[in-house]
Amino acid sequence: MVSLRSVASAIVALPFAAAVTITVSSDGGNATSRHQYGFLHEDISNSGDGGLYAELIRNRAFQSSYSFPSTLEGWYSLNGAALSLQNLSTPLSDALKTSLNVASSGSDGILGFYNDGYWGMDVKQKKYTGSFWVKGSYQGIFNASLMSNITGEVFGSVEVESKSSPDEWVEHPFELTPSVNAPNSNNSFSITFDSAGLEDGSLDFNLISLFPPTYKDRPNGVRVDLAEVLEAFHPTYFRIPGGNMLEGLTNSSYWDWKNSIGPLKDRPGYAGVWNYQQSNGLGLMEYLELSEDMGLELIVGVWAGLALDGGVTPQDELQPFIDDALDQIEFIRGAADSTWGSLRAKYGHPEPFTLKYVEVGNEDWLAGAPEGWETYKSYRFPMFLEAINAAYPDIQVISSGSVLDGYDIPAPGNGDYHIYGTPDQMVDQFDLFDNVEIPHLIGEAAAVHPNGGTAWDGGLVEYPWWGGAVGEAASLIGYERNSDRILGALYAPIIRSLDRWQWATTMIQFAADPALTTKSTSFYVWELFAGHLFTHTLPATADFNPLYYVTGKNEDTGAYIFKGAVYNSTEGADVPVSLSFDGVAAGTAAELTVLSGPDNPYGYNDPFTGVNVVTTTKSTVTADDNGVFEFSLPNLSVAVLDTGASGTSKRSMKRGRRS
Ligand code: AHR
Repeated sequence: MVSLRSVASAIVALPFAAAVTITVSSDGGNATSRHQYGFLHEDISNSGDGGLYAELIRNRAFQSSYSFPSTLEGWYSLNGAALSLQNLSTPLSDALKTSLNVASSGSDGILGFYNDGYWGMDVKQKKYTGSFWVKGSYQGIFNASLMSNITGEVFGSVEVESKSSPDEWVEHPFELTPSVNAPNSNNSFSITFDSAGLEDGSLDFNLISLFPPTYKDRPNGVRVDLAEVLEAFHPTYFRIPGGNMLEGLTNSSYWDWKNSIGPLKDRPGYAGVWNYQQSNGLGLMEYLELSEDMGLELIVGVWAGLALDGGVTPQDELQPFIDDALDQIEFIRGAADSTWGSLRAKYGHPEPFTLKYVEVGNEDWLAGAPEGWETYKSYRFPMFLEAINAAYPDIQVISSGSVLDGYDIPAPGNGDYHIYGTPDQMVDQFDLFDNVEIPHLIGEAAAVHPNGGTAWDGGLVEYPWWGGAVGEAASLIGYERNSDRILGALYAPIIRSLDRWQWATTMIQFAADPALTTKSTSFYVWELFAGHLFTHTLPATADFNPLYYVTGKNEDTGAYIFKGAVYNSTEGADVPVSLSFDGVAAGTAAELTVLSGPDNPYGYNDPFTGVNVVTTTKSTVTADDNGVFEFSLPNLSVAVLDTGASGTSKRSMKRGRRS
């Protein structure tokens, strides 16, 4: 394709938007993989622990690493109990060596401890499933309760008979159904017991866990509302486990998939790269199950011998990590009688998972430059590529850098390109891949800085904003135009906690209270495009002026589809569009969906006020006697016209509270 970069940037400055006539051919164009959109998930901004992972107890097993010591964070005493961390000679497991000692302060009566969760807990009249491990001699009853931090009201409580022993750790499972819904999420979970039943004045506790019902009822599963909001944007690709999180801080603390599988008591946790210790509760198996439950296409990152501190694995020491990656792939998709596939079967999933895409490392062009990137190009990627394709010829192996990062990626490898930019930079993506021949994933993409504020030290915008979302739309259109070589585009990072984050701009925000789960302006744009997939693009004649667009057809439904974005931050003129498809007859009805934003392009969807600045307008447009669809798009808008979409009545969802 002809490069349009210079045309596009010149047109943005035009004083008036000209009418655009688009004539779409019936053949030619690019076949696509159909799999266009998705997201990267890693545990950043508590999007794993305290986020997608439904565990309600923060610091449930007092895990530590070289960078984060064990603490009592999240835990508090009740009725004068003395709480202390202990490394007993008989730990719960090799992985969980530190436990909580709860001692009577001398006075008789009920004592205990409580946990205030990940900045609160959502308590509803539904079944919570929990468990705690105890060591010590106690005859009596434990009370496990959910209660208000504000009023002390107990919403639900269950008696758990002690099976404790002074010689070994004993698990105490329980179920707890509150009798009322808590009015807010300022709640905690407590365990109490009667000091009269203690033989030695104290008990040791570990792995204290509590789950609400989870998405698809998976044990150790994910939060229902967050999974559903992810599902709602129609993703296809699911890239795990990062991001920087895959790389790790050092070559001895990368994300080791083997630490993230099996019983929770055998998971040591992870020295997270985002300034907090992670539990490894949301591990490889949980990711695989979520992928299956949501019907997603996995893109699994394997560690490639480079950590964030720049430490590079020498060539003669790389083979064990290649073997480890092959083991990981076998765990995911090997037969149930293979070495690692049998472990997966033991953990409850004899059927292999589907895995077609493996990415080698993450952003290897960044850490430890230039040595990191040079070693990647010279031996690390080629060695992984050869070994993975020798064992699994059908797997698409993806380099963690792109040809635009200066890598002539060896066949049959694919590239990965990341963009975190300003709206203008996102629009510049429109033709970036027009002349790139090697297939690429857009593995991370988002508008994160305002125009004119490109410096990383300038900080990220706190929420995706409408002007940024329109810029993203132009970039996505550019990627779709090249969808014979662009595998798909992934938003990153996808979600963040409103209570603690390291990366502000995310598609979805959440807190303990599900009422705060918020779809950003970007969500609406990506959801619209992901909900109308082509099977192939169709070539069209037109200027890109200042309408950026792509046209295509979905052969499964027979629908003709147009996707467009009007981006012109200095002028406010509407853009009249005359659109005709070869093969679409006069009188054909199409659904036109137009997303528009607030007068202020920096407007954003606010989790705390609930204001949604995105207006979604749906209408039916009918091709005239010449087969032309005539419509007009406002400045800073994003649109899809689809001849196969259901629902053709005119309706408009005005700005209002979040939906
Ligand atoms: O998405 C946040 C981070 O940005 C990712 O972990 C990393 O790959 C990129 O630099």
